[in-house]
Amino acid sequence: MNQNHFYVTTPIYYVNDKPHIGHAYTTILADVLARYYRSLNVPTFFLTGTDEHGQKVQKAAEARRMAPQAHCDETVVRFQELWRKLGITNDKFIRTTDAAHKAVVQEVLQDLYDRGEIYKAEYTGWYCVGDERFFTEKDLVDGKCPECGREVTRIVESNYFFRMSKYQQWLIDYIETHPDFIQPAFRANETLGFLRKELSDLCISRPKSRLSWGIELPFDRDYVCYVWFDALLNYVSAVGYRRDPAMFEKWWPASYHLIGKDILTTHSVYWPTMLKAMDLPLPRTIFAHGWWLTGNTKMSKSLGNVVNPMEMVEKYGVDAFRYFLLAEMAPGQDASFTEEAFIARYNSDLANDLGNLLSRVLKLTLRHLQGVIPPAGPLQEEDRELLQTVSAAVDAMEQALHAMKCDQGLAAVLNAVRAGNRYLEKTAPWTLAKRGDTERLQTVLHTAAEALRQIAILLLPVMPGKMTALGEALGFGAEEFAAQRIAELRQGGDFVSGRTMRDTDGLFPRIQTEEKTQKPASSTPAPAPAPKPKTVLPGVADLITIDDFFKTQLRTAEILAAEKIDGADKLLKLKIRMGDEERQLVAGIARYYAPEAVIGKHIVVVANLKPAKIRGIESQGMLLAAKIGQDLKLITVDGEIASGASVG
Ligand code: ME8
Ligand code: MG
Repeated sequence: MNQNHFYVTTPIYYVNDKPHIGHAYTTILADVLARYYRSLNVPTFFLTGTDEHGQKVQKAAEARRMAPQAHCDETVVRFQELWRKLGITNDKFIRTTDAAHKAVVQEVLQDLYDRGEIYKAEYTGWYCVGDERFFTEKDLVDGKCPECGREVTRIVESNYFFRMSKYQQWLIDYIETHPDFIQPAFRANETLGFLRKELSDLCISRPKSRLSWGIELPFDRDYVCYVWFDALLNYVSAVGYRRDPAMFEKWWPASYHLIGKDILTTHSVYWPTMLKAMDLPLPRTIFAHGWWLTGNTKMSKSLGNVVNPMEMVEKYGVDAFRYFLLAEMAPGQDASFTEEAFIARYNSDLANDLGNLLSRVLKLTLRHLQGVIPPAGPLQEEDRELLQTVSAAVDAMEQALHAMKCDQGLAAVLNAVRAGNRYLEKTAPWTLAKRGDTERLQTVLHTAAEALRQIAILLLPVMPGKMTALGEALGFGAEEFAAQRIAELRQGGDFVSGRTMRDTDGLFPRIQTEEKTQKPASSTPAPAPAPKPKTVLPGVADLITIDDFFKTQLRTAEILAAEKIDGADKLLKLKIRMGDEERQLVAGIARYYAPEAVIGKHIVVVANLKPAKIRGIESQGMLLAAKIGQDLKLITVDGEIASGASVG
């Protein structure tokens, strides 16, 4: 099998559907894989497209009083435009109404017919319009479609059948001996479960009297081809099957058919048996990913909770959207999309961790070295450690890719980003500058810039626009950086010295969410047209019970140490003692208190607050302070009490 190529496909989407986050996900996943393999210097072909025949399209066109082809020509643009906006780098966009595809489908049909793989028979069955599938009496569940539960229609007619059943045992053996063939493994088991029942032959025709929008059978002009039989063949017709032997030889078999779990059976049973009958090798891996849910519920038009990818992109940018989809979903499992989760991940991974690392290196280099990245002096242990963490991320990313665990690869890269921030805290280049230790300062900034360069190259396939901008901030030309390859990362060498850094307006500006904090009790109500009493009780809906209040664990703590945070003039980093525990807090009090003024104070802390990263520094709790106008005072304890005492 051809290991030196990478051929990845997405499902061809029904041209009728409005593209939503699910379609966007499969296509972005394929795009990221394609970009990674190109970055690894592996010849790559990436195919996507649209599925344009069948009953649903015919009905939709009729409803609009349009010819089906004209209807398709209009609706296909939605997908093509979305892919352009999402930065999708497919090598081909196939439409099943392309003349070239139709001709190949007809040749395959004729060939299979001539060789007795297709035969005609009288058929009695049940048809589900929604799924465009036939079922036998025993397939039905409570008389309804076993797939979607909708009503089915009884149909008696003559049709053409593909002898799928004769390949049942062969397919079982193939799946059992090729663990990579259907992934994740539990989907292979699902297919084997399906194959435990007797497999029927596949009805591959529709009489034109019932459905005319399809590819005509070459051996019987009264019929058109079943839409799935036509659609699956796109994977070979697109790469030159029966037309361009050199091209076909180069790309087939596909490395990955990426699909959602909804279309497993068609890909894991129909398609392999078709290929076997055609005497073609099977794709290396059919990978079925999970479902994007809205919160915990399925997305559906009727619930009105379908996430429109364009809205997200317009609001937050295409790179952040691509990053979220890839980082959030463990391929194979379901994942949940909520705007809150999106913002939380964006703010922590991109704004705080990665954005912060760049802005620190940039500011320090501009301030102390006229913006020019210096050469490194002799490396110390901590420099080597950072570069090793980055190298480990290069390996992890590549392994994750081969195992289709992109989320884990990205986690390894973000781990390197955080190591970069810790490295700066440890080496404290701001202190080196103050001390005039220029040689060490240069080595530290060089090392941090080199780490950033490698991180940006690793993230290029996921965030091509933003990572190119990061490359530009490091002094590379945009085109020069966009062409950087992961394949070259392991070669070593100095690629950053002498480059002049360019100021960016913040690569990932923090997304501000509405402050949910309660106003201090002493604040007066907002001015209103009619005078209101000074003290108002909130409406009943806003009142909380004592149990609600005690969800917040307040405890006393002593401040042991305090320091300013470089580049954040509102923040202090505090070390506190709470009973026998020590913690670190980041508090927005630097405008009101000098670090030395708070040491020794006994304060009140929210002890059960989820840790959060603020400017890349973990804050393990929140202190209480009273604020009015420009005044802020810490809430302190009136007299001696051991730290860690509960407050309430
Ligand atoms: O089935 N979460 O096309 P289709 C994740 N034309 N992925 C989702 C999703 C969700 N909520 N919803 C859809 C067809 N998808 C056929 C395919 S292939 C020869 C023919 C994605 O428009 C997922 O990839 O219904 C799923 O398999 C595909 O969209 C179905 O797209
Ligand atoms: Mg569908």
